[in-house]
Amino acid sequence: MKKAEIFINGDKLYEVPVIIDNMGGHSLDITNLRKDTGFITYDPGFGNTGSCRSSITYLDGEKGILQYRGYPIEDLVESCDFVEVAYLLVHGYLPNLVERRKYADMLNQHSLLHPQMRDFFKNYPDHSHPMSILAAMSVSLQSFYPEIDLAEDPEKQMDLNVTRLLSKMRTIAAFTYRKLIGMDFVNPNYKYSYCENFLNMMFSSPVKKYKANPVHAKALNKLLILHADHEQNCSTTAVRLIGSSEANLYAAVSAGICALWGPRHGGANQAVIEMLQQILESGESLEKIVERAKDKDDPFRLMGFGHRVYKTYDPRAKIARSMCDEVLADLGTSDPLLDLAVKLEEVALNDSYFIERNLYPNVDFYTGIIFRAMGIPTNMYTVMFALGRLPGWIAHYLEWNHDPYEKIGRPRQIYTGPQPKKVLPIDQRE
Ligand code: ACO
Repeated sequence: MKKAEIFINGDKLYEVPVIIDNMGGHSLDITNLRKDTGFITYDPGFGNTGSCRSSITYLDGEKGILQYRGYPIEDLVESCDFVEVAYLLVHGYLPNLVERRKYADMLNQHSLLHPQMRDFFKNYPDHSHPMSILAAMSVSLQSFYPEIDLAEDPEKQMDLNVTRLLSKMRTIAAFTYRKLIGMDFVNPNYKYSYCENFLNMMFSSPVKKYKANPVHAKALNKLLILHADHEQNCSTTAVRLIGSSEANLYAAVSAGICALWGPRHGGANQAVIEMLQQILESGESLEKIVERAKDKDDPFRLMGFGHRVYKTYDPRAKIARSMCDEVLADLGTSDPLLDLAVKLEEVALNDSYFIERNLYPNVDFYTGIIFRAMGIPTNMYTVMFALGRLPGWIAHYLEWNHDPYEKIGRPRQIYTGPQPKKVLPIDQRE
């Protein structure tokens, strides 16, 4: 076994075991560091911390590689639908025809919501953010449906819980949209595919016959696949952390939804479109916008740019960028926001600040343009991201559940508060 050594002022403190992963990546195993030496490590934002062992997703941020269970994202987007990829993430292999059909049947069987859950929607104010409703509904599922019990027939339980969540969250997302625009709910329909069913629940109208546009359904499939997993990102780490306390799957997923909501994470897709709209309306030059993003005294950042792990073009952003052209061309429309985004990308990528810091468009930079083309409103974009990320969250929750190394997540801290003090009687305090 390889070992590294830690020295303090020339004196050897510790020998650290080195772990080498399946792709040749090296890690220092500091599990016993505090026990053996009294030292802890400090790593705000966990930029250098491996929190678990995982076989779900591999990404190389320097080379722009992303693989789910060994399959390149580019191949999965081209050759599979979202349900197959969800199966792959959760089970570890792509389904055959029989398994795929069984999964489709289960998705249909579990697509309806309990009537009492339907009533919840009524009491949300019309200005609610859909992510708040999604998170609350997710954790509420625990009150209506039995929890995952992996001890009893694990394969069956896993399929049951996974298809239940995948299917019901799709219904919840569409009902949320209908509630916020004041329209009656449309129930899921067995005759449609996963994505067609969602579009039908979103856009069916009592006055005009609706049929989901196949271009939209195909694009939605691809977008959901692009979002399906991304190893230990903020929301997945939240899911694993909540799961580590042995909280139930629905609670852990609800925490993932809350973490995703923030504009530094999945909320960036909404923020990108709002930023582009503001630039268009204000008529401000793109050079000025980029200058503002660089100014440390200005809180403004270029939304949809930068990533903790990608130091080159995010492979998902590359796919989303080419999808924008395909979807708009198929629909025979154009979008001034796409033209603006392309120009903004060009200005930023030629600026030394962005070059030096390796800041490239991330997945959220172009996806909003595609959601817009489908008629999905801006405040629903992060909900769409959540629907895509759901199988990833579930796969990580289940992986944690089977992990022989698992422990409750409980980091240490560097204390910066006062020294111990005496409590004075109230009449003696300043
Ligand atoms: N605009 C301007 N400057 C930026 C941007 C940006 N979008 N992103 C990073 N930087 C700068 C930082 O100011 C910092 O500069 P410095 O070294 O001079 O201090 C440097 O680049 C490194 O950035 P950090 O914030 O340290 O990088 P970190 O890995 O912590 O953050 C994050 C990554 C949160 C994604 C960041 O790039 C960001 O806020 N981007 C905009 C929001 C966004 O698009 N989020 C979606 C990410 S993808 C996803 O989660 C699905």
